[in-house]
Amino acid sequence: MIHAYRAELLSVGQDPRDAPDAVRHEPDGLLVIEDGLVVARGGYAELADKYADVPVHSLDGLVVPGFIDAHVHYPQTDRIASHGEQLLDWLDRHIFPAEKAFVDKAHADAVAAFFLDELLRNGTTSALVYPTVHEQSVDALFEAALERRMRIVSGKVLMDMGPEGLKDTVASGRAESEALIRRWRGRGRLGYAITPRFALASTDAQLADAGALLAEHPEVLMHTHLAENVHECAAVEARFTEAVDYLDAYDRFGLVTDRSVFAHGIHLSDRACARLHESGAGIAVCPSSNLFLGSGFFNFGQADRHKLRLGLGTDVGAGTSFSMLHTSGLAYQAALAREDRLDPFRALYLATAGSAALLHIGDKVGALEPGQEADFAVLDCAATPLLARRTREADLAERLFALQILGDDRAVSRTYVLGECVWQRTAP
Ligand code: GUN
Ligand code: ZN
Repeated sequence: MIHAYRAELLSVGQDPRDAPDAVRHEPDGLLVIEDGLVVARGGYAELADKYADVPVHSLDGLVVPGFIDAHVHYPQTDRIASHGEQLLDWLDRHIFPAEKAFVDKAHADAVAAFFLDELLRNGTTSALVYPTVHEQSVDALFEAALERRMRIVSGKVLMDMGPEGLKDTVASGRAESEALIRRWRGRGRLGYAITPRFALASTDAQLADAGALLAEHPEVLMHTHLAENVHECAAVEARFTEAVDYLDAYDRFGLVTDRSVFAHGIHLSDRACARLHESGAGIAVCPSSNLFLGSGFFNFGQADRHKLRLGLGTDVGAGTSFSMLHTSGLAYQAALAREDRLDPFRALYLATAGSAALLHIGDKVGALEPGQEADFAVLDCAATPLLARRTREADLAERLFALQILGDDRAVSRTYVLGECVWQRTAP
């Protein structure tokens, strides 16, 4: 089946930091789709004759690649906006009790369905997702993602030092991870990530086993948290006395590779950044979470000096919004707090192709290039009276920035997965 959309098209396929001409914009564009894949993209005037027989639908709004949330916790959906604590106390008081409920598959199914629908409502079509320690929490997420044809990467959380009711063992963690890798391999658009919760939640033996598992499975990712909170960093330093820094605590167990995605990375030494660069590992920057938990501001200047690979994550439930537009706006503000600048095109890159590259799915999604899967969102610059007023005479950069600062789920009018509309805002 071949069909096409005529619309304003925008994508940023490479980091503008390294490729200044990475912005691709067609004010009046044509996106031709066959069997869910982009087969052609360009100006309408250039392509219209060649595809004269193809049915064309016009879309009102700015078409961008579907957002890719590089770090988010689906079991924390119901604990978003929990008051009062920084990371370690917030985990104990609000998060661990909520995650225990995922031992019940029916509960996991219900939350997974709501979570994925919420991603789609926000224009997010792919994500790297934390489930819980329970094997069935991964099944629930993957089953729901398969139904929606979404590109989701996840993997059972390893935490043999977790609290009662939320604890595995080295042996059960390995057996369940291997079973999940086998069960879900090659199905739909799903991928697996070995997921130690963070250094403090696993014994040395479990971290070592996670490293071994990663080495045995070259197709899977490794996903964890790194240097998020000062008290967490102090606890890591106190426990891992042989490690030169937090990253090294992972590195000693083989967990720092080009398939490693670390969330946060706020408090990093230059040594750690150099090692991240050398290994090819990347960071999911999570500005709304970093603000909400009082964790700090990501250091874009340092990351750029070391040419780190970056993506963007909401980190719900520490993050305060599923919207990658809103999260992009907060990334700008976090950068400015350290006197760095994040331009709106680079923010769009981080929220799409940057996250895709981190997740090793950059050949498939993130830039709406021919050969890629046709996942996209349609953004409405007039979604609210204020957005409409602010953007009425704005150029492209200003419109995009206004969408990031003033926009959220309300600015996403439609979401498409594999070329088909899966969510549409109804007129108020
Ligand atoms: N570090 C370990 N677990 C978590 C979590 O659930 N959320 C955040 N933000 N950081 C963590
Ligand atoms: Zn997190």
